[in-house]
Amino acid sequence: MRQAGRYMKEYRDLKEKYTFKEMCETPELAVEVSLLPHQLLDIDALIVFNDILIPLERMGAPLTYADGGPRFLEPVRDQAAFEKLHDIDPRTDSSSILNTISELVRLMDGEKAVLGFAGAPFTLASYLVEGKLGQGVETLKKVMFENPKFIHQLLESLTRMTTDYLSAQAEAGASAVQLFDTWAGHLAPAEYEEFALPYHQEIFKALKEKHGDTTGTILYVRDSAHLISQMSRSGADTLSIEWRTSIRQVRQQVGDQFSLQGNLDPTALFASPAEVAQRTQQILEENRGDPGYIFNLGHGILPKTPVESVRALVDTVKNFSP
Ligand code: CP3
Repeated sequence: MRQAGRYMKEYRDLKEKYTFKEMCETPELAVEVSLLPHQLLDIDALIVFNDILIPLERMGAPLTYADGGPRFLEPVRDQAAFEKLHDIDPRTDSSSILNTISELVRLMDGEKAVLGFAGAPFTLASYLVEGKLGQGVETLKKVMFENPKFIHQLLESLTRMTTDYLSAQAEAGASAVQLFDTWAGHLAPAEYEEFALPYHQEIFKALKEKHGDTTGTILYVRDSAHLISQMSRSGADTLSIEWRTSIRQVRQQVGDQFSLQGNLDPTALFASPAEVAQRTQQILEENRGDPGYIFNLGHGILPKTPVESVRALVDTVKNFSP
């Protein structure tokens, strides 16, 4: 997660010359950045370099990435603001991510998987309604409890976009696509059942029907310990588990029908390489013998992470015999 980014000197050097958006939206640059983790760390799968919020700008929501993180300049909190958004055709409006995926697939020539991704409707709606996110999703929840119809209308529109967007990424050659519902962990199970799960089900059902033979699906939710049973009904092939939850326990709870991926705490990467290797080994041992287990972080790599620690992690995983 966020395998290419500011913790890499090579990325910071590029950012001296180009903005984050320029890097996402110029396939030559996005290919170059996507390849950094492959070249520097030799990870097993490449994630296309882009961001979950980029397609929302295409839908008509002005977006900036300043130092404090992403911000929508015109938060979408009422019908008039919603009316300003429009449907997009990802094949023309989001062609840069598609061209980046197909070029990465061509370059990798089957040697490594190329992964696509999108934000899930609830998380995208969180950014659109809040404008900027910090600790929680209070404004979104206020609107959600006051005017659930409005939020459902927004979620439906985002679901249409996301389904089409991920489908186009599958067509471009992604081996798997990951749906990020980072902020849905702020919902109680009953609200998750209403505002997140049905939309996940719709997206994964459509992807399975169209691309089930070629493209895998992954669901990630942060703060999800209380939502495992709901996540297991999403229709995703793989559940990506954040760091506060034991994968062994999730396996006992959900049975064998999914792959499970995770879940080193990204802040553990601030420790020495030896300590990182030990913590990585511990997670691998805990899941030893589980054929559906994939090592991953529990959330995105943080900007000040030392590259040597990430390298210690990758080496530990590569040297492990299951
Ligand atoms: O994993 C990868 O290498 C692929 C790229 C990727 C990015 N964002 C690049 C990025 C992926 C998969 C994402 C997903 C994403 N973006 C999520 C879901 C996963 C998660 O982290 O929960 C969310 C919620 C976002 C929204 C977003 N975009 C945030 C919160 C930020 C700020 C992050 C920060 O560390 O400041 C971004 C910007 C962003 N997206 C950066 C990168 C490399 C940093 C841009 C920069 O300033 O250089």
